[in-house]
Amino acid sequence: TQKILLDMDPGIDDAAALSIALTDDTFQVMLLTTVAGNVSVDKTTKNALRLVEFFNQEKVVPVAAGASAPLIKKYADAADVHGESGMDGWQFPDIKTDVLPEHAVVAMRNVLMSSPEKITIVATGAFTNIALLIRMYPEVLPKIAQIVLMGGTLGKGNITNVAEFNVFTDPHAAQILFTSGLPIKMIGLNVTLQALLSKENIRKLGEINQTGQMLQALFNHYADDQNGAKPMHDVNTLFYLSQPESFVFEDYHVEVITEGPANGATVANKETDKNVSVAIKVDVEAFNDWFMKKIIAI
Ligand code: BDR
Ligand code: CA
Repeated sequence: TQKILLDMDPGIDDAAALSIALTDDTFQVMLLTTVAGNVSVDKTTKNALRLVEFFNQEKVVPVAAGASAPLIKKYADAADVHGESGMDGWQFPDIKTDVLPEHAVVAMRNVLMSSPEKITIVATGAFTNIALLIRMYPEVLPKIAQIVLMGGTLGKGNITNVAEFNVFTDPHAAQILFTSGLPIKMIGLNVTLQALLSKENIRKLGEINQTGQMLQALFNHYADDQNGAKPMHDVNTLFYLSQPESFVFEDYHVEVITEGPANGATVANKETDKNVSVAIKVDVEAFNDWFMKKIIAI
């Protein structure tokens, strides 16, 4: 099993990633933390708890609420893509579980410092919590095996022509993370817009099990759509951890533009010291097969 910390903003594609992380026993989710992103942190935290309870993991996976706004930039949500609740489309029962009393950043620190081995952090929202963790508790850096993140792009953006949403939401946090010296695997739009879950597989989901029905209902409300096929952005982080051979990476020097018209753009070059391993290719068929198998196995 791989021990992981998950930092997310569920979010429909986050929900799909979380469904797999919570049920696939090759992963052990040590902590689930939330951040403002697709919707407010109150909503992303509720959604995280909803999914933890959906999979009966409330006694196993602790949830801690994190930053309610970016470090410097004004917060703006993506409710137009994920719905007002952040997970529109499925009626979840009332939440019974409480979050941890401490802030996500403190909870992350505690888990990392008390672990004998290094832990991988999977980050699929704005990087505000991670940047705060780096700045507040630098003693955790040697405890982090790697950061596997969904964010940025080598190509076109989705929130502006040049910027990807997670980086754009808190560009200063992303810049702190990229320049932290931590080992980073960046899985950006240039690959996640390739790894679409096919229209046919989305149709099949409803026939598999209750998880398939729940995800299908969310996907039907997910405005990120390419002729009926849907990008599963955040799910690629777990696909990478499960099946790294399905990706090709190249090392780049990546930094983030934090102002002006290119705000939130990830600039990548090969001429200077390399700090980020960037995904440049993904096996789309293997992604679809893996995803469907994981849902069937739930
Ligand atoms: C990213 O932005 C969010 O809306 C998604 O959940 C994903 O993490 C894609 O750009
Ligand atoms: Ca996300």
